[in-house]
Amino acid sequence: MSSDSRPATPADADLTLDPQDWKAFRALAHRMVDDSLDHLASLRERPPWTPPPADVASAITGEPLPTAPQGAEQVYAEFLAHVLPYTAGNRHPRFWGWMKSNGTPIGMMADMLAAGMNVNAVGMDQSAKLVELQVIKWLAEAMGFPAGTSGIMASGGTMANVIGLAVGRNAKAGFDLRQHGLYGQPRLTVYGSTEIHSWVTKCLELMGMGRDSFRPVPVGDDFRVDVAAMRDMIVADRAAGLRPICVLGSAGTINTGAIDDLDALADLAAQEDLWFHVDGAIGSLGVLSPNLRPLFRGQSRADSLAFDLHKWGYLPYECACVLVRDAEAHRDTFATKAAYLRVEDRGVAAGGLVFAERGPELSRNFKALKAWMALKAEGTDRIAAILEQNVAQARRFGALVGTVPDVVLAATISLNVACWRIAPAGTTPEQQDMLTREVLLRLQETGVAVCSGTVVQGRAVIRVAVANHRSRWADFEQLLAALPAVIADARARTGI
Ligand SMILES: Cc1ncc(COP(=O)(O)O)c(C=O)c1O
Repeated sequence: MSSDSRPATPADADLTLDPQDWKAFRALAHRMVDDSLDHLASLRERPPWTPPPADVASAITGEPLPTAPQGAEQVYAEFLAHVLPYTAGNRHPRFWGWMKSNGTPIGMMADMLAAGMNVNAVGMDQSAKLVELQVIKWLAEAMGFPAGTSGIMASGGTMANVIGLAVGRNAKAGFDLRQHGLYGQPRLTVYGSTEIHSWVTKCLELMGMGRDSFRPVPVGDDFRVDVAAMRDMIVADRAAGLRPICVLGSAGTINTGAIDDLDALADLAAQEDLWFHVDGAIGSLGVLSPNLRPLFRGQSRADSLAFDLHKWGYLPYECACVLVRDAEAHRDTFATKAAYLRVEDRGVAAGGLVFAERGPELSRNFKALKAWMALKAEGTDRIAAILEQNVAQARRFGALVGTVPDVVLAATISLNVACWRIAPAGTTPEQQDMLTREVLLRLQETGVAVCSGTVVQGRAVIRVAVANHRSRWADFEQLLAALPAVIADARARTGI
């Protein structure tokens, strides 16, 4: 050190980002855990959604880059005041929008523990690799996949589906796609229902195949794909010089929760020598319940299956999984070589960079920990019972909402999604669309419940998607009881 106590060179400074006072930081950290748990335990006392007011928004977005330290206490105070209260509300018992999970306290703590470990879950000779391999083994077993199935935890259904489809594309392209790309090749085509989630087109764009590679197949009145129509399209496309590579099935569509005839799709894929990928982002975990399992017949025949644990697995974001039956095809899609990633049979990197060879990412966080802890702590039987509870809640709600004056059920309830719309006698379909959207927004704004909207058979509907382990039947009763007044309010506001 120099005489004025400044370091002679930056190398002598011994700066660190660890706290100067561990005791004080520990007290703050304990408060953070206590506050988070208090907040979770008292969710029911607040409305599901509280939007950030203008002053909060500008306090967050108007601050210049902080160059001087403000200290953890100060930042945490700001978090409590400006960040914590203003979420979309998916932890709340009356949140049934889109298909979002609540998260669980054990999942929250697991994420904290994973961040504390700060593992780079790429593989290597460390416990995180073993935990992730074990979670994949358990999930493969639960899904009815054979021993030796490959898989990887992913950030969400989109990424899990992308990985599955990428493996299928490479396996069925019929040429070395990794080396040559798509240049000069016939168009590769994939087939799925018109109800399939928009990840497909995003994925095809990203993979350089273009949206035209998706061949949308019509659905029946039950919103399940028309398998015969899919077969005809495949045959016609092949005759026209296209190269069909993949059949896509939905184990729960985003709009209505419909589950395709996965057995028939598996047969079709086998007959046509195509990859069979199932998007089970919403529903696949239903197989944990012996009562719901028959709905998913054929799912276990998929070549690849993507599903979220941060939807109907109740875990906090981000957590999804993709299973790939053919481990070699999986590895062949993503494995790379580089001198700096050399694997030895001893030392830290022993055992390889398993997960870098199963997906596009190199560095990745330890998502498997929350799945491992939750599966062990809760047990699949308890999770299955709550899945069944959600299906029963959606069905009972659907039966009752149709009895509310001016409300009609818009689709059969296949799983855990109820779609309904506002259709007073003497109004046009367009007026009903307007009213339906207004009712949806008023439910959100008044704190009755957060549902979301979509379009079913060309008409606006309100969706109640029940992937919520905190909902009690009384929560649905609260929504049902509030509806007549909300509808009257919406009619007054729209003049319909
Ligand atoms: C059927 C389906 N597939 C895929 C996705 C995308 O999943 P994620 O939001 O986890 O990326 C969703 C999202 O709602 C979905 O409903």
